[in-house]
Amino acid sequence: MKRKLLALTLALAMGLSLAACGGDTAETTAPAETGAVEATTPAETGDDVITVGFAQVGHESDWRTASTKSAQDVFSAENGYELAFVDCDNDSATQLSAVRNFIQQGVDYIIIDPIVSTGWDAVLTECEDAGIPVIVIDRTIDDSDKYVSWVGSDFKVEGLACGEWLKAYAADKGITEINALVIEGSVGASATIGRTEGFKEIADREGWTILDSQSGDFTEAGGQEVMESYCQSYAGQFNVVICQNDNEAAGAMTAMDNAGVTYGVGGDVILVSFDANKPYVQMVMDGKINANFECNPMAAPTVAEIIQQLEAGETPEKEIYVTESWFAAEDNVTSITVNGEEQPVIHVTQEVLDARPY
Ligand code: AHR
Repeated sequence: MKRKLLALTLALAMGLSLAACGGDTAETTAPAETGAVEATTPAETGDDVITVGFAQVGHESDWRTASTKSAQDVFSAENGYELAFVDCDNDSATQLSAVRNFIQQGVDYIIIDPIVSTGWDAVLTECEDAGIPVIVIDRTIDDSDKYVSWVGSDFKVEGLACGEWLKAYAADKGITEINALVIEGSVGASATIGRTEGFKEIADREGWTILDSQSGDFTEAGGQEVMESYCQSYAGQFNVVICQNDNEAAGAMTAMDNAGVTYGVGGDVILVSFDANKPYVQMVMDGKINANFECNPMAAPTVAEIIQQLEAGETPEKEIYVTESWFAAEDNVTSITVNGEEQPVIHVTQEVLDARPY
């Protein structure tokens, strides 16, 4: 039996309290322009409607916008769902309280994209005690397994792929020394931790120098700020910039443009990004970004399948990895080996770009 959702009243109340907290404004098109709360609730809730609470990280990036849109499309009234959506504005306390509000509301399922990977066991225990199944998407939770399923990316593999591509690319170009600057994502996010570990593993193995590695918080403004300081501190010393998402890459490009540093195909600096949102795959095709390692934001359809399995009394898989591809501006590296597995590197053409779904 479905629980009645008190979403509108409670989400509005929460919206007022979250809005009062303020926070960063969106760098990109944001589902909740204020960084506060957006609740999608049909006027009537029938017993056959499945109520879902989604505690989203925030609205920091194009990737996040795609993730939110995917959830809102899938968990629509037309599809038989009522979605209570909370944009947590990259604030862990807000995210914990959003989950606790979902428990009070008595939703049928809770989706969490955890801002940070720790600090979850108490609230997940509360979900368990309330009998509400939790599905985790995108980032991982490291200190509790009290959730039904996780759907997301292998972030370490993304970082390893980046390193293996750079090794092959540099070898083909006759580049013998790598001096890299890394712009990391948000501190404590498993996406940051995995990508950092993966790239560092290859850098250590190959004897590359990582001159510096600082957080740009997965935002364009953060990427620009970090790159501006790198351009001052490491002028003339670096030949690789690794941005852990596309929005940081946009900010880094602005900073390098302003500092007179050239990047991309034929530039002084090899520029690498993660996410592979369509506008940034276009930048790969245009030669502004040398390579881009996809992070797939389309977890929601798989979450809907998991919910349908639970509704049918079945046991879903505990871990489900989304599929991801690697994109490059040039065709000199056509494949890389990651964790012993050969994987294609896709040379971006107009046809490839046209086929990108987000
Ligand atoms: O957790 C996924 C990461 O979070 C994406 O790479 C980034 O763009 C987003 O903000």
